[in-house]
Amino acid sequence: MREFAAEYLRRTRDGMWEDSRVALAPLALDSRDRILDVGCGTGELSAVLAAESSGEVIGCDVDTALLSRAQNRTGVSTVAGNALELPFADDSFDLVVCQALLINLPDPAAALAEFARVSSDLVAAIEPDNAAVDIDSSVDREERLERRARRAYLDGVRTDVTLGESARDVFESAGLEVYETRRYDHVRRVEPPYSEGAVIDARRKATGSGLADDRETMLAGALTESEYDELRGSWREMGRDVIEQMASREYRREEAVPFFVTAGSVSEGEQ
Ligand SMILES: C[S@@+](CC[C@H](N)C(=O)[O-])C[C@H]1O[C@@H](n2cnc3c(N)ncnc32)[C@H](O)[C@@H]1O
Repeated sequence: MREFAAEYLRRTRDGMWEDSRVALAPLALDSRDRILDVGCGTGELSAVLAAESSGEVIGCDVDTALLSRAQNRTGVSTVAGNALELPFADDSFDLVVCQALLINLPDPAAALAEFARVSSDLVAAIEPDNAAVDIDSSVDREERLERRARRAYLDGVRTDVTLGESARDVFESAGLEVYETRRYDHVRRVEPPYSEGAVIDARRKATGSGLADDRETMLAGALTESEYDELRGSWREMGRDVIEQMASREYRREEAVPFFVTAGSVSEGEQ
């Protein structure tokens, strides 16, 4: 199982759902009594659910360190548990939802079938398509290098991190009746004055540590060790350019990650 650092989740979700929550409308949050957020991590989505619903929100994750961060940060109740074997009775919730969980599971349909068991009404998933990330940067080579690193990562990763809109097919194979898919682009901008997170990201580029986190995955695909070393060298040079542009307040970057909200109802047979 891939592990996530709390700081990574906080940084990559920064600003998510703050600009618009229209894509969450199919979840009918204002009419829910009990909502389960599976794979809640640090509670980025749980906080949004709690803000939009007067019902009870429970966050669930296998990683207990992330769960205590979620509880402290958002105040929602948390329960440790595995998405494939949720520690809840049948029909305990009227909405079971996840964000960026299915892309990390080898068998997402099995998780959705388990969501359907504990939901009496709706199951939803908010999943990105990591092959369709768009980057625009004032450092010329940043976009090209990120594209190259992403291609190597996608080639080596063993789960479908491009799931996005095709989550619909997984819902159907889990016996859920999909009634809507909506797109939400999470846009993150880096511009002066630079946030602490942006400075940390730039340092991780200049030291190559961000890329090193994905080294094993990249090498599991077609990328060779020497190609990785060459990529890391160029990556670090690019990181130094970023830091240089930040020093003169010239650096600007925009990243858009498309997320797809798929909502499906628990069919008669599942209830
Ligand atoms: C990419 S993070 C997403 C976290 C959060 N939903 C968000 O959007 O920020 C994936 C989360 O799923 C959790 N996870 C992975 N496999 C799991 C499983 N089998 N059961 C429950 N949680 C799992 C990880 O611990 C991690 O917190």
